[in-house]
Amino acid sequence: MINMNSQYRSTYEELAKQIPFEPEICLVLGSGLGEFAERVETVKSISTSSLPNYPKSTVQGHQGFLHFSKYANKKLLIVQGRIHFYEGYRISQCVLPVFLASKLNCKSILLTNAAGVVNTNFQPGDLMLATSFNSINIKKELSELIGITSIEQKNKFLDFPSKKLNDIIRKAALEEKIHLQEGVYWYNKGPAYETKAEIQMISKFGGDAVGMSTVHEAFYASSLGLDVASISCITNFAAGLSPNKLSHQEVMETAEIVKKDFEKLVKKSIEL
Ligand code: 6GU
Repeated sequence: MINMNSQYRSTYEELAKQIPFEPEICLVLGSGLGEFAERVETVKSISTSSLPNYPKSTVQGHQGFLHFSKYANKKLLIVQGRIHFYEGYRISQCVLPVFLASKLNCKSILLTNAAGVVNTNFQPGDLMLATSFNSINIKKELSELIGITSIEQKNKFLDFPSKKLNDIIRKAALEEKIHLQEGVYWYNKGPAYETKAEIQMISKFGGDAVGMSTVHEAFYASSLGLDVASISCITNFAAGLSPNKLSHQEVMETAEIVKKDFEKLVKKSIEL
């Protein structure tokens, strides 16, 4: 049984002492997208190592900071230092930033990530708005997670991503003339990428992009009543769709190229 409140009370209490304001929007930065934090006005950066029980992110491209920032008159909490299941943490540890965002009264959360492409109409360098998520690989963990924290929501259909947020992001893409793909984000626990046969299955089952984050965060945020959206930065072809061997290096290099459009899209979405 997971009780986030008792597990993370000390983390929240220490954070609450340090915050300069209550944020409205939480932005979680994916692999290679951490630099966005430097593109907006930072009011205060809090190192996650100063917070008790905050897991250490071990992945290259993920620094451990919670930035309290401002853009377009909106107060932001920018999570730079996502925690992944494949680093050996429990799902309840991975969603700690979401718990903190909710405790601090954020109303919406934008989850970003680097993802591999399954849909052959997409290509590396594209941005994809999630229209739905496949969480079949972590159903058990997700049920345990919301089983106790939101009893009253237990049997409810969680409505995410938020239509309102997705419409804002679509409008932002139009205004910025950014081609925005849309599709289903499929969760894989990792740390290994999928095999060729698994990618064929995911494709047949309606997955468009595949990644190792976001879904549990989206699920949990939605159970806490936040509006949720997810933008994927498509960094590479999944297994069997390209002659190149998959590597974290390729993911980081493509993220570097898409960064400009990503920044424009996220900024415009915050403005709208
Ligand atoms: Cl191909 N698979 C998964 N699971 N995550 C990824 C990826 C692929 N490419 C970037 N992240």
